[in-house]
Amino acid sequence: MLLHIREVLSLDEVRQAREILGQAPWEDGRLTAGEQSAKAKNNEQLREDCEETRAVQQLLLRGLERHQVFFSAALPKQISPPLFNRYGGASNSFGNHVDSAVRFLRDGSGRVRTDISCTLFLAEPSEYDGGELVIEDTFGTQRVKLAAGDMVLYPGTSVHRVLPVTRGYRLASYFWIQSMVRSDEQRRLLFEMDNHLRHLRSKYGETDSGVIGLTSTYHNLLRMWLDI
Ligand code: NI
Repeated sequence: MLLHIREVLSLDEVRQAREILGQAPWEDGRLTAGEQSAKAKNNEQLREDCEETRAVQQLLLRGLERHQVFFSAALPKQISPPLFNRYGGASNSFGNHVDSAVRFLRDGSGRVRTDISCTLFLAEPSEYDGGELVIEDTFGTQRVKLAAGDMVLYPGTSVHRVLPVTRGYRLASYFWIQSMVRSDEQRRLLFEMDNHLRHLRSKYGETDSGVIGLTSTYHNLLRMWLDI
Protein backbone atom coordinates (compact mmCIF):
# COMPACT_ATOMS: atom_id res chain seq x y z
CA MET A 1 0.00 0.00 0.00
CA LEU A 2 1.30 3.40 -0.95
CA LEU A 3 -0.27 6.06 1.21
CA HIS A 4 -0.03 9.84 1.41
CA ILE A 5 -0.35 11.02 5.02
CA ARG A 6 -1.07 14.69 5.45
CA GLU A 7 0.20 17.16 8.04
CA VAL A 8 2.35 14.96 10.22
CA LEU A 9 4.13 18.22 11.07
CA SER A 10 2.48 21.63 11.18
CA LEU A 11 3.98 24.46 9.14
CA ASP A 12 5.40 25.88 12.35
CA GLU A 13 7.09 22.56 13.16
CA VAL A 14 8.47 22.34 9.64
CA ARG A 15 9.94 25.82 10.11
CA GLN A 16 11.51 24.79 13.43
CA ALA A 17 12.94 21.60 11.89
CA ARG A 18 14.43 23.54 9.00
CA GLU A 19 16.00 26.11 11.28
CA ILE A 20 17.81 23.33 13.12
CA LEU A 21 18.75 21.40 9.97
CA GLY A 22 20.03 24.59 8.32
CA GLN A 23 22.85 24.74 10.92
CA ALA A 24 23.62 21.02 10.80
CA PRO A 25 26.86 19.35 9.61
CA TRP A 26 25.77 17.60 6.39
CA GLU A 27 27.94 14.76 5.10
CA ASP A 28 28.30 12.66 1.98
CA GLY A 29 25.50 10.06 1.99
CA ARG A 30 27.79 7.38 0.58
CA LEU A 31 29.53 7.07 3.96
CA THR A 32 26.71 4.87 5.24
CA ALA A 33 25.61 3.17 2.02
CA GLY A 34 25.99 -0.57 1.45
CA GLU A 35 28.18 -1.75 -1.41
CA GLN A 36 25.35 -1.92 -3.92
CA SER A 37 23.53 1.28 -3.01
CA ALA A 38 26.79 3.30 -2.79
CA LYS A 39 26.90 3.13 -6.57
CA ALA A 40 23.46 4.69 -6.86
CA LYS A 41 23.55 7.08 -3.90
CA ASN A 42 24.57 10.68 -4.38
CA ASN A 43 23.11 12.86 -1.65
CA GLU A 44 23.94 14.36 1.71
CA GLN A 45 22.80 13.19 5.11
CA LEU A 46 23.19 13.87 8.78
CA ARG A 47 24.99 11.62 11.23
CA GLU A 48 22.65 9.64 13.47
CA ASP A 49 24.39 10.78 16.62
CA CYS A 50 24.51 14.53 16.02
CA GLU A 51 22.59 16.97 18.18
CA GLU A 52 20.57 18.37 15.28
CA THR A 53 19.41 14.90 14.26
CA ARG A 54 18.23 14.15 17.79
CA ALA A 55 16.37 17.46 18.12
CA VAL A 56 14.38 17.03 14.90
CA GLN A 57 13.77 13.34 15.65
CA GLN A 58 11.86 14.37 18.79
CA LEU A 59 9.73 16.79 16.81
CA LEU A 60 8.94 14.18 14.21
CA LEU A 61 8.20 11.34 16.60
CA ARG A 62 5.76 13.59 18.46
CA GLY A 63 4.05 14.33 15.13
CA LEU A 64 3.74 10.61 14.39
CA GLU A 65 2.46 9.77 17.85
CA ARG A 66 -0.52 12.10 17.63
CA HIS A 67 -1.44 11.17 14.04
CA GLN A 68 -4.38 8.75 13.96
CA VAL A 69 -4.22 7.99 10.24
CA PHE A 70 -0.55 7.11 10.55
CA PHE A 71 -1.24 4.73 13.43
CA SER A 72 -4.17 3.07 11.69
CA ALA A 73 -2.21 2.57 8.45
CA ALA A 74 1.16 1.53 9.87
CA LEU A 75 0.19 -0.22 13.13
CA PRO A 76 3.76 0.41 14.26
CA LYS A 77 5.58 -2.03 16.50
CA GLN A 78 8.88 -0.23 16.17
CA ILE A 79 10.00 2.90 14.35
CA SER A 80 13.64 3.27 13.38
CA PRO A 81 15.05 6.64 14.48
CA PRO A 82 14.22 9.13 11.70
CA LEU A 83 17.20 10.24 9.59
CA PHE A 84 17.59 13.23 7.33
CA ASN A 85 18.85 13.77 3.82
CA ARG A 86 19.34 16.60 1.39
CA TYR A 87 19.52 16.58 -2.39
CA GLY A 88 20.82 19.50 -4.44
CA GLY A 89 23.90 20.92 -6.13
CA ALA A 90 26.33 18.16 -7.10
CA SER A 91 24.76 15.66 -4.64
CA ASN A 92 21.35 15.48 -6.14
CA SER A 93 20.02 11.97 -6.78
CA PHE A 94 19.68 8.36 -5.64
CA GLY A 95 19.30 5.75 -8.37
CA ASN A 96 17.23 2.57 -8.19
CA HIS A 97 17.82 0.58 -5.03
CA VAL A 98 16.11 -1.52 -2.38
CA ASP A 99 16.29 -0.86 1.34
CA SER A 100 17.89 -3.55 3.52
CA ALA A 101 15.41 -5.88 5.21
CA VAL A 102 16.75 -5.09 8.69
CA ARG A 103 17.95 -1.86 10.33
CA PHE A 104 20.31 -2.46 13.22
CA LEU A 105 19.82 0.28 15.76
CA ARG A 106 22.91 2.27 16.42
CA ASP A 107 22.95 2.02 20.18
CA GLY A 108 22.70 -1.78 20.01
CA SER A 109 19.14 -1.61 21.36
CA GLY A 110 17.74 -3.96 18.75
CA ARG A 111 16.70 -4.10 15.14
CA VAL A 112 13.77 -3.11 12.99
CA ARG A 113 12.40 -5.24 10.15
CA THR A 114 11.68 -2.74 7.38
CA ASP A 115 8.07 -3.63 6.56
CA ILE A 116 7.24 -0.02 5.66
CA SER A 117 9.50 2.70 4.23
CA CYS A 118 8.63 6.32 5.05
CA THR A 119 9.67 9.64 3.56
CA LEU A 120 8.53 12.88 5.20
CA PHE A 121 9.05 15.96 3.05
CA LEU A 122 10.55 19.06 4.68
CA ALA A 123 10.79 21.35 1.63
CA GLU A 124 7.85 22.66 -0.38
CA PRO A 125 7.57 21.33 -3.96
CA SER A 126 7.86 24.92 -5.25
CA GLU A 127 11.36 25.24 -3.73
CA TYR A 128 13.02 22.70 -6.01
CA ASP A 129 12.75 21.07 -9.42
CA GLY A 130 13.02 17.29 -9.78
CA GLY A 131 13.56 15.24 -6.62
CA GLU A 132 10.46 13.06 -7.07
CA LEU A 133 10.53 9.79 -5.14
CA VAL A 134 9.77 7.16 -7.77
CA ILE A 135 8.37 3.91 -6.39
CA GLU A 136 7.83 0.73 -8.36
CA ASP A 137 4.58 -0.39 -6.82
CA THR A 138 2.35 -3.37 -7.64
CA PHE A 139 0.09 -0.82 -9.38
CA GLY A 140 2.93 0.48 -11.57
CA THR A 141 5.38 3.33 -11.16
CA GLN A 142 4.38 6.11 -8.77
CA ARG A 143 6.05 9.54 -8.61
CA VAL A 144 5.76 11.24 -5.25
CA LYS A 145 6.52 14.85 -4.30
CA LEU A 146 4.54 16.16 -1.35
CA ALA A 147 3.95 19.34 0.63
CA ALA A 148 6.33 20.04 3.52
CA GLY A 149 5.07 18.21 6.62
CA ASP A 150 3.41 15.44 4.57
CA MET A 151 4.65 11.88 4.39
CA VAL A 152 4.45 8.85 2.11
CA LEU A 153 4.35 5.25 3.37
CA TYR A 154 5.24 2.47 0.94
CA PRO A 155 6.13 -1.22 1.20
CA GLY A 156 9.74 -1.87 2.18
CA THR A 157 9.83 -4.42 -0.63
CA SER A 158 9.63 -1.77 -3.39
CA VAL A 159 12.46 -0.76 -5.70
CA HIS A 160 12.67 3.05 -5.58
CA ARG A 161 14.80 6.06 -6.55
CA VAL A 162 15.01 9.84 -6.14
CA LEU A 163 15.20 11.78 -9.41
CA PRO A 164 17.94 14.40 -9.79
CA VAL A 165 17.20 17.78 -8.20
CA THR A 166 17.99 20.39 -10.84
CA ARG A 167 17.10 23.54 -8.85
CA GLY A 168 17.08 24.28 -5.13
CA TYR A 169 17.27 21.70 -2.33
CA ARG A 170 15.08 18.78 -1.40
CA LEU A 171 15.11 18.19 2.33
CA ALA A 172 13.45 15.12 3.84
CA SER A 173 13.36 12.65 6.67
CA TYR A 174 13.36 8.92 6.05
CA PHE A 175 12.83 5.97 8.36
CA TRP A 176 11.37 2.50 8.56
CA ILE A 177 8.64 0.79 10.48
CA GLN A 178 8.29 -2.74 11.72
CA SER A 179 4.55 -3.21 11.83
CA MET A 180 2.55 -5.23 14.33
CA VAL A 181 0.93 -6.68 11.18
CA ARG A 182 3.66 -7.91 8.89
CA SER A 183 1.59 -8.53 5.75
CA ASP A 184 0.96 -5.51 3.55
CA GLU A 185 -2.32 -7.06 2.36
CA GLN A 186 -3.66 -7.64 5.87
CA ARG A 187 -2.57 -4.17 6.93
CA ARG A 188 -4.40 -2.65 4.00
CA LEU A 189 -7.61 -4.53 4.83
CA LEU A 190 -7.45 -3.37 8.44
CA PHE A 191 -6.79 0.22 7.41
CA GLU A 192 -9.73 0.23 4.99
CA MET A 193 -11.99 -1.34 7.60
CA ASP A 194 -10.94 1.23 10.18
CA ASN A 195 -11.76 4.03 7.71
CA HIS A 196 -15.19 2.59 6.98
CA LEU A 197 -15.80 2.20 10.70
CA ARG A 198 -14.88 5.83 11.36
CA HIS A 199 -17.41 6.84 8.74
CA LEU A 200 -20.13 4.62 10.25
CA ARG A 201 -19.40 5.88 13.75
CA SER A 202 -19.83 9.49 12.71
CA LYS A 203 -23.07 8.64 10.92
CA TYR A 204 -24.73 6.27 13.40
CA GLY A 205 -22.91 6.99 16.69
CA GLU A 206 -20.72 4.86 18.91
CA THR A 207 -23.59 2.85 20.43
CA ASP A 208 -25.22 1.62 17.22
CA SER A 209 -25.30 -2.19 17.40
CA GLY A 210 -23.90 -2.58 13.86
CA VAL A 211 -21.03 -0.25 14.72
CA ILE A 212 -20.27 -2.22 17.89
CA GLY A 213 -20.40 -5.51 16.00
CA LEU A 214 -18.05 -4.36 13.25
CA THR A 215 -15.68 -2.78 15.77
CA SER A 216 -15.51 -6.15 17.46
CA THR A 217 -14.76 -7.83 14.11
CA TYR A 218 -11.98 -5.30 13.46
CA HIS A 219 -10.36 -6.03 16.81
CA ASN A 220 -10.76 -9.77 16.40
CA LEU A 221 -9.00 -9.64 13.01
CA LEU A 222 -6.31 -7.49 14.57
CA ARG A 223 -5.91 -10.02 17.41
CA MET A 224 -5.58 -12.83 14.88
CA TRP A 225 -2.90 -11.07 12.84
CA LEU A 226 -0.97 -9.11 15.46
CA ASP A 227 2.61 -9.89 16.29
CA ILE A 228 3.54 -7.93 19.43
NI1 NI B 1 15.78 3.81 -0.06
